[in-house]
Amino acid sequence: MSYHRFDAVIVGAGGAGLMAAIQMAGKANIAVVSKLYPPRSHTGAAQGGISAALGNTEEDHWQWHMFDTVKGGDYLVDQDAADVLSREAIDAVLELEHMGLPFNRTPEGRIDQRRFGGHTRNFGEGPVRRACYAADRTGHMIIQTLYQQGIKHNVNFLDEHHLLDVLFTDDGRCCGVVTLEMKTGEIHTIHAKAIMIATGGFGRVYKITSNALAGTGDGIAIPFRRGVPLMDMEFYQFHPTGLYKLGILLSEAARGEGGILRNGDGEAFASRYAPTLGDLAPRDMVSRFIHQEVREGRGIDGKDYVHLDLSHLSPELIDEKLPDVTGFARTYLGVEPKTDPVPIQPTAHYAMGGLPTDVEGRVIRDAKNTVIPGFYSAGEAACVSVHGANRLGTNSLVDLVVFGRRAGKHMLSFIESAELPPLPSDPELVARAQVNDLLTRPNGERAATLRQAMQEVMMDKVSVVRDATSLNEAKAVIDGVRRAYHHVAIDDHGKTFNTDLTEALELGCMIDCAEAIIEGALLRQESRGAHYREDFQARDDVNWLAHSLVYRTSGGLELGKKPVTITIFEPKERKY
Ligand code: FUM
Repeated sequence: MSYHRFDAVIVGAGGAGLMAAIQMAGKANIAVVSKLYPPRSHTGAAQGGISAALGNTEEDHWQWHMFDTVKGGDYLVDQDAADVLSREAIDAVLELEHMGLPFNRTPEGRIDQRRFGGHTRNFGEGPVRRACYAADRTGHMIIQTLYQQGIKHNVNFLDEHHLLDVLFTDDGRCCGVVTLEMKTGEIHTIHAKAIMIATGGFGRVYKITSNALAGTGDGIAIPFRRGVPLMDMEFYQFHPTGLYKLGILLSEAARGEGGILRNGDGEAFASRYAPTLGDLAPRDMVSRFIHQEVREGRGIDGKDYVHLDLSHLSPELIDEKLPDVTGFARTYLGVEPKTDPVPIQPTAHYAMGGLPTDVEGRVIRDAKNTVIPGFYSAGEAACVSVHGANRLGTNSLVDLVVFGRRAGKHMLSFIESAELPPLPSDPELVARAQVNDLLTRPNGERAATLRQAMQEVMMDKVSVVRDATSLNEAKAVIDGVRRAYHHVAIDDHGKTFNTDLTEALELGCMIDCAEAIIEGALLRQESRGAHYREDFQARDDVNWLAHSLVYRTSGGLELGKKPVTITIFEPKERKY
């Protein structure tokens, strides 16, 4: 076995993981482990901006940002966490600026800001410019900036190590991870006082998604199998504007800069549903508006898509502020956005749920907020919960910078006083059995076939709208996929860069995520944020103003609830 010992190990090299690493670099012996080369992390795909109430172009206040976050999340947001997010966003963005991030600038040289969905002035009066941005490559600039800082601060990077297991002591302390080195096929045990999961989301569970191929939920599914709960999994965000049939993200910044959604009649339909914010209503709503237009026959040519119209924007604005997304429309659909409308449809984009944490990034194991010592998470893998039932655009980048930083600082103080916990007697037992099983099984089910069945049913039955019938149909299909997965076989039995093997492992993680989404969605008999049940269309604060927790036990999945923290803003009906 290949054994490594560090003070802390971070799994995932996106914005949250790198931000945490930078807090500890030079002060502790740490490593960042990623199944990718770090700048390929999905943070790099974020486009339109990172919000902070800087007030550089018009009046703004962090309290307005907090209110919008809570209301946008349909009041399922933990308000102590939203307070931290919106207050610390300001300093976090300035820290990125000081690290060298090349933000767009106002004529006076300040960080420029633009409009994004659900971000308002004066507690909901109308849109405000809060999103700081680097053209439509904000995530790309963040990942490059943070990676450079990691290199500068001599962070140890273990690139292209696929997570196989997360280890806990008998008394429940996290003590390490087991990985598969892609280059050699060798299994590694990484022993540490503190472990952080920052592996991002699991959009690949769905057929149409903006997520990179790596978004398969490994970092949350593996601890889930070891008894750690997942929170609010039923809340999965569909971004309104994915390129038709491909799902590639077309940033909300396009609407922030004045782009308009039009139906098959050429009507700008969003303001019919949301008179104040129109196209800039929160994403859960705009995706439902599109769904409704299509269902009522007003898709383009009666089909399942609508148009995003940018043709009235100046070509200079498009070139300066939206170069990537307009390039995607040209490259992938052959459409020139300066003159022609772009076909779009909602695309699976972001998991509001994940590993439950407190505001220091410590993973908790139950509704009483009992901390799992030495176990941390931040970013999309975590559920702190600042996004509640629906995340506002730009708040994911804030989340990973603010809570990645907090988790890194807390880990540093933890490892200063903690002893190195013991490892299990054979730490690689489970991982080795899983890998050997896949490598030696002569023939069986194809992972690609099972993955396709899962992605299609999740898209058809568990997306923008769902009900008990659709969820039970999906559950039956996923149960079948799970049974067949026990017999999955691969063609490549080699050791070097065996993506056949890792794709099969990833499929297992996605099945866990799909099951948790469906269980949470069946449990929650109300509509809130991104979870819209056609058979329970109203929000039900009496019974459901609560987070859901799902546990994997030897007897199957068990469900529970956890109270929502409300400090200032009493739940109200969401109107935009
Ligand atoms: O639309 C976008 O640019 C995406 C941003 C986000 O998900 O925060």
